[in-house]
Amino acid sequence: MRNKQPSLLTYNDVTPKEDFDNSRALISASRRQFMLQSSTVMLASGLAPSTLWAGNKIENIKKSMYSTKEKPTPYEYVTTYNNFYEFGTGKGDPVVNAHRLKTKPWSVTVEGEVGKPGVYDLEDILKRQQLEERIYRLRCVEAWSMVVPWIGFSLAELIKQMEPTSKAKYVEFTTLYDPEQMPGQNRRTLKWPYTEGLRMDEAMNPLTLMATGLYGEEMPNQNGAPLRLIVPWKYGFKSIKSIVKIRLTEHMPKTSWNEVASREYGFYANVNPQVPHPRWSQSRERIIGASLFTPKRDTEMFNGYGEQVASLYKGMSLRRFF
Ligand code: MTE
Repeated sequence: MRNKQPSLLTYNDVTPKEDFDNSRALISASRRQFMLQSSTVMLASGLAPSTLWAGNKIENIKKSMYSTKEKPTPYEYVTTYNNFYEFGTGKGDPVVNAHRLKTKPWSVTVEGEVGKPGVYDLEDILKRQQLEERIYRLRCVEAWSMVVPWIGFSLAELIKQMEPTSKAKYVEFTTLYDPEQMPGQNRRTLKWPYTEGLRMDEAMNPLTLMATGLYGEEMPNQNGAPLRLIVPWKYGFKSIKSIVKIRLTEHMPKTSWNEVASREYGFYANVNPQVPHPRWSQSRERIIGASLFTPKRDTEMFNGYGEQVASLYKGMSLRRFF
């Protein structure tokens, strides 16, 4: 067990861009708390982290042709180094706090420009979807990345089942708002509930995934259980977690990060090594889980998915519409 600690310490300690919001003090306090709590729990139980956070296996998963061949980031990193401000602003906060979230039963409200609005039970939604394993690289705006074997289904299929009207130009997603379960919502770090949005053609692209699990198991709460979005060619903040509402709209929806700092977080948020964030370069990224001596990786245009998505932005200035 002891030899797990130095590696955990290392990746947390070298986090760049903690200036994602003005929460430095909070982050280091919660990091200390996380290190203390997780090491105490693990030492007391004698369990490896992967055993502690194991969820239920998901059956009948198809392999996807959209998966990268790259080696996935170890489970321990994917599930302990998280951004989920509803559970705190430190990377180690979500794994410690997200157990408060009750994810079953879970319903999703479908509204706006659709032929079939309603409140749907997630179990019923899932009965109509083909689950796939898709190994995607998640590139965070903070200039780190990880490769995750997500499990999910195509958002396009779900949208077709909602029967969009001809006025549906955008999709808005909303996270649960419940400060009792999500104590981070008691602080004004973001305007709650967290919202995100996609243009309709982005939402209908076959790469866009609604994820319900990872590493063959149900989604751990800290990663956005029971339903989250994954848009692999965009910065990680577009991948909204714990979704309770999907609304099809005629006008571009407001999004949480854009509202809090519009100069820093655009609506499109396409991964683009040529357009720096106002406070740091986006040309390279740190690989989560790699040793301190591993060099940073060059960031790829559209996170490596240009062939499938570059045509969506033909004729658009990606510097202006960042
Ligand atoms: N969704 C909600 N509701 N709240 C959040 O704070 N953080 C975003 C995104 N989705 C966030 C969210 C950011 S900044 C990133 S990088 C990814 O989730 C992180 O996903 P992961 O923790 O599974 O790696």
